[in-house]
Formats: sequence, C-alpha cells, structure tokens
Amino acid sequence: MHGLFITFEGIEGSGKSTQIKKLAKFLRQKGYHTVLTREPGDGEIGAKLRELLLSVSSSLDPLTELFLLAADRTRHVIEIIEPALSEGSIVISDRYADSSVAYQGYGRGLDLDFVNVVNQTAMNNCIPALTIVMDINPEISLKRSCLRLQQQSMFEAEGRFEKEDIFFHQRVRSGYLSIAKSDPERCRVFDASGTPEDIFSSIAETVMKVVQNRMKVNIP
Ligand code: TYD
Repeated sequence: MHGLFITFEGIEGSGKSTQIKKLAKFLRQKGYHTVLTREPGDGEIGAKLRELLLSVSSSLDPLTELFLLAADRTRHVIEIIEPALSEGSIVISDRYADSSVAYQGYGRGLDLDFVNVVNQTAMNNCIPALTIVMDINPEISLKRSCLRLQQQSMFEAEGRFEKEDIFFHQRVRSGYLSIAKSDPERCRVFDASGTPEDIFSSIAETVMKVVQNRMKVNIP
C-alpha cells in the first residue's frame, strides 16, 4: 500500500464533515490525489445498508446493527479503501471502525472485546495511519445538528441515530476519548468547540507531519 489512510471520528454535530472538506481541498491543492469516503454508505451495497440502518425503527438490536455495519465495512475496505491506497491516494473516511467501538460498544453496551474482534475481521488489516477525533460536549453538538437539520427541513425525515438521548452521546464521547487514550500513536484528539478555521489549522499541521512521515515525500 503506497497511500495514506486517515479517518475522522466524533459524535454528531462535531464538525467532521466541514473539516473533511477543508482537508481534502488543502491536500488536493498540494497535489495529493485524495479520495473522500464514508461509513455507513459508500459503494452500492453501502448505500443500501445506510438506507436500511438509518430508516428502521429504534428497536433494531445492537448486535444486528453491529453486523450490518461490519458487512458495510468489509465492502468498503475491499471496494474503495484498499484499491485507492494501492494507487497511492490519500483516503479520508468519515467514520470507520472506531465508530462501532464508540457507538455499538460504549453507546449501546455491546462487549468491547467482541466489537474489536468483529472489527478486526471486517477491516482485513486495513488500519488507519491517523485517526482524527473531533471532541465536543454533546449538549453543544446536538444543538448544532438540530439547527442544521431544521435549516435543511430534514428534521422529521432524519433517521433514528440522531434521535438518541444525551446520555447516549455522552457515553459515545467518552468511548472515543478512551479509544484515543489507548492508541495515542494513531489517534489525535481535537477540541471541536473552537472556530472551524482554528481547528483546521491544527488538523492540517498534524496531517502534514503524518503525510511526510508515512508517504516519504517532501511537502511540495
Ligand atoms: P450520519 O448521518 O453519517 O451521521 P454523522 O454525520 O454524524 O456521521 O449517520 C451515521 C450514523 O451511524 C451515526 O449516528 C453513527 C452511526 N454509526 C454507528 O453507530 N456505528 C458505526 O460503526 C458507524 C460507521 C456509524
């Protein structure tokens, strides 16, 4: 694999998508071929799984949810991530395996070791070089995402994931912080409560260090 795999993680409304777009633009301007992708839902099967996951009622049990997400992850790795890395691209994924640990493990209470085993199998050894964890208090981030949905008139149509209570999001947030603490080489935590510009300049600095290190090229 010649490319570089970067993932973004964080609770809803943490500003992942804004930062991902900025990062892709920044890397492309520097001449790096950059592929943007996401979970759940990239690729043909992914799109169907996403529709299914986001539309079913809140009664879907966590284990079924975990397996559906794992199936999506395997397709995602095989169809999109690995081919792009072999071509030397920088792949940026909006969510990946840590989302299952944070949401299905810490959030919904599935056994963490079990979630990790499922993830290991689903990932097929495709481990991110860098994971950016956008950290924010859920009370702030949920207000942000409600506002965004209302602006887009999507409030009623939005799936069940965004209807979870505040305690759920607090568990997910602390899950992400525990994941980051246990894997400091790969994970960097960013305070997502600042301005998008300030957050981006710290992210860009971190990313460029990893790009230089891992891709063994000079910054153009
Ligand atoms: P999405 O609309 O993409 O939300 P966001 O913009 O916050 O990423 O919905 C994805 C939802 O799927 C999100 O609530 C988190 C959830 N999810 C899991 O619970 N486990 C997983 O492994 C993944 C990839 C996502």
